[in-house]
Amino acid sequence: MDAIALLPCQRHLFEVPDDVSYLDAAAWSPLPRAVREAGEAGLLVKSRPWAHPREAVPAQAERARAAAARLVGATADDVAIVGSVSHAMATAAANLPVAPGGRVLRVADEFPSLRYAFDRLAAARGLIVEDVPRPGDGDWTAALLAAVERPGAPPVALATLTPSHWTDGGLIDLDRLAPVLHAAGAALVIDATQAAGAVPVDVGRWRPDFLAFPTYKWTLGPYALAFLYAAPHRQDGAPIEENNGNRPPAFGARRYDRGELNDPVLLPMAAAGLDLVLSLDVSAVAARLRLLTDRLEEGIVGLGLSAAARHLRAPNILGLRAPGGLPLGLVDRLRREGVYASERSGALRLSPHVWADEGDVDRCVAALRRAL
Ligand SMILES: Cc1ncc(COP(=O)(O)O)c(C=O)c1O
Repeated sequence: MDAIALLPCQRHLFEVPDDVSYLDAAAWSPLPRAVREAGEAGLLVKSRPWAHPREAVPAQAERARAAAARLVGATADDVAIVGSVSHAMATAAANLPVAPGGRVLRVADEFPSLRYAFDRLAAARGLIVEDVPRPGDGDWTAALLAAVERPGAPPVALATLTPSHWTDGGLIDLDRLAPVLHAAGAALVIDATQAAGAVPVDVGRWRPDFLAFPTYKWTLGPYALAFLYAAPHRQDGAPIEENNGNRPPAFGARRYDRGELNDPVLLPMAAAGLDLVLSLDVSAVAARLRLLTDRLEEGIVGLGLSAAARHLRAPNILGLRAPGGLPLGLVDRLRREGVYASERSGALRLSPHVWADEGDVDRCVAALRRAL
């Protein structure tokens, strides 16, 4: 097979040993060296505050906010800094006016951080939650479009969606879904956790009311930090954490900022990770990851595993299923051979990022061949 020509492997930026094939970016990514160094410099700020004035930290918040905004095609004023995606979703749910009797539409087996806040909202406002079942043909987009337009069904008040299913990368084509949802008068909340940093995300194209993503997966940053885009007409709500920093004169989405915002460790790390993915160009990252996941899929032919058709899966995540379920202990067995992946809802989830190369794919395929 041809070597990947476009964006070269970026392993030199990481500390991944040659004999480790880390294909678990969808769980969490290793830190690039530059991000670790930014964190270490941040620790010194907190260790020796007399030598590193605290007053410099708010600029780090604005640097991280601006980079996060750039990644999703927003302006910095439209982005809040929060602690997690669940924090972002609680904020979104608390600030969406929805009429009773409508539906909350989402995919079955959605990630809990995108479910619970809206279950609560639905119960409080008399909304009907509709989980669209996993389609037999793998076409989530068609299944969701059919659900939006189902004759006789109550109107969709709100759709809570992701660009791909978190368990196996099943594509959810928001370019097709968003216009239909807007035409139906539905609010749209997007969890871009498994996309931002790996595939292009653009709030201008999808026009969500809210969109969130964390820093610890595809944007190569730390744990415990996330961003919330709020559309301009959703910025006059109330934060779920009231603190001095998010009261007026704070404006725009800063009104939803977390407490203890000025963390000298997390913010520079987040900014360094974001700057790195921005410098690589996310379209080029997606093209590279597509080649790697396609190579994985080609490698497993004949092993009794199946994946969604190429046009129905995201570039960055390959979910493999076996007819009677995956063999017990498969993930542990792979790990013993230096291949790191996750099992999610019955799928072996393989998720390479820019540190991975063809050798990692081939080690994974060889390990699967031995295991199966
Ligand atoms: C789709 C999705 N959303 C959100 C998260 C993380 O949520 P939180 O930041 O609330 O822990 C994950 C983590 O795996 C995820 O896969």
